[in-house]
Amino acid sequence: MTKPLEGIKIIDFTHVQAGPACTQLLAWFGADVIKVERPGSGDVTRNQLRDIPDADALYFTMLNSNKKSLTLDTKKPEGKEVLERLIRESDVLVENFGPGALDRMGFSWERLNELNPKMIVASVKGFSDGHHYDDLKVYENVAQCAGGAASTTGFWDGPPTISAAALGDSNTGMHLAIGILTALLGRDKTGKGQKVAVSMQDSVLNLCRVKLRDQQRLERVGYLEEYPQYPHGEFSDVVPRGGNAGGGGQPGWVLKCKGWETDPNAYIYFTIQGHAWEPICKALGKPEWIDDPAYKTAEARQPHIFEIFGTIEAWLADKTKFEAVDILRKFDIPCAPVLTMKELANDPSLRASGTIVEVPHKKRGSYLTVGSPIKFSDMKPEVTASPLLGEHTDEVLASLGYSRQDIFNLREVKAV
Ligand code: COA
Repeated sequence: MTKPLEGIKIIDFTHVQAGPACTQLLAWFGADVIKVERPGSGDVTRNQLRDIPDADALYFTMLNSNKKSLTLDTKKPEGKEVLERLIRESDVLVENFGPGALDRMGFSWERLNELNPKMIVASVKGFSDGHHYDDLKVYENVAQCAGGAASTTGFWDGPPTISAAALGDSNTGMHLAIGILTALLGRDKTGKGQKVAVSMQDSVLNLCRVKLRDQQRLERVGYLEEYPQYPHGEFSDVVPRGGNAGGGGQPGWVLKCKGWETDPNAYIYFTIQGHAWEPICKALGKPEWIDDPAYKTAEARQPHIFEIFGTIEAWLADKTKFEAVDILRKFDIPCAPVLTMKELANDPSLRASGTIVEVPHKKRGSYLTVGSPIKFSDMKPEVTASPLLGEHTDEVLASLGYSRQDIFNLREVKAV
């Protein structure tokens, strides 16, 4: 089956996570993604936290599937020449080097645009161009702090907290993918390429927009009625950390189930969304709460929300997280077990949908990865192994018109 992005050639000048997550997604959907790596070492994540000596680390394999690897020293003149040839033939160049690195290499936006006016140049940086921090190198947790996620995550009596979800890295890569696809559609209309830039700070903040809502509400009324601090605690002039309360405004909490004393994940998340109150009362065997003025409305419940959660925990005490959800789902109550990575890895539904996939790899044997979270009616993205360092160098060079002798002569700039 023809994949939608077949025929789109992408120079993948990315490393670590933010850039690779973007180009991996585009590769799943059919783009020809050529990862340009430094001879000798390649993407630094090939070597980080290896679990099998001499085989690429899982971090690398899980972010670079479906790509080709071209080793090329792009700081040497012969390497630059190869890159220029590739640029002339490509639709997109994606990079997430530190600030100024591409310019120092001699490939500024102006130069790239001159080499190929139709090419889209897509960049991830920590901060946007012109920002007072735009000279900073940035990793995931730095971005979570700079984008408002850390100050609003965690418990009010603890420090700012980092999420395990890659809000700074993969999330930024997803934003960039949307930017690239938009620029490709734009090019169909104008015939011109353009520069697409996404900053990690902006991408984190985009996911924290509800907290910016809360900042404005707080400034207007002085309190946030759906936060655990209301009505007994104090509010300052900044959005506080709300623990496990629902970020969007639905009061909810992580509640203990049977076995929590020994199993750190024997919990469910339970949301008391307004419309679910009646079924919740029925499920808990508390029909008298339905019309009780002390419980009937969200406003009435908030002052004693933790007493309500306590009652629900008493109900959960003899039920595992799975048993509890099986009962609650029959009442149409929004809830979920707190799932571990082990449970997710073995989840038959995720295996069947292609969200968790097992990929054969030349050196590792097989490994698990997260496949496309986006599902299509006409295409099932297939995940193939990440490339070995320089696995496709000669193939790519030949496709650019280099003869066998030329390829031999380039050995200095392409050595693995
Ligand atoms: N051949 C020759 N040189 C190469 C090369 C190649 N194929 N590929 C990269 N390089 C060089 C670059 O030209 C650059 O050299 P220079 O600094 O002398 O100009 C260097 O390798 C890479 O620099 P940099 O990207 O700054 O790497 P780093 O390890 O110092 O920093 C990051 C890593 C991730 C902090 C930094 O790249 C960054 O801030 N990126 C933007 C934000 C981002 O994406 N963060 C990571 C999210 S997962």
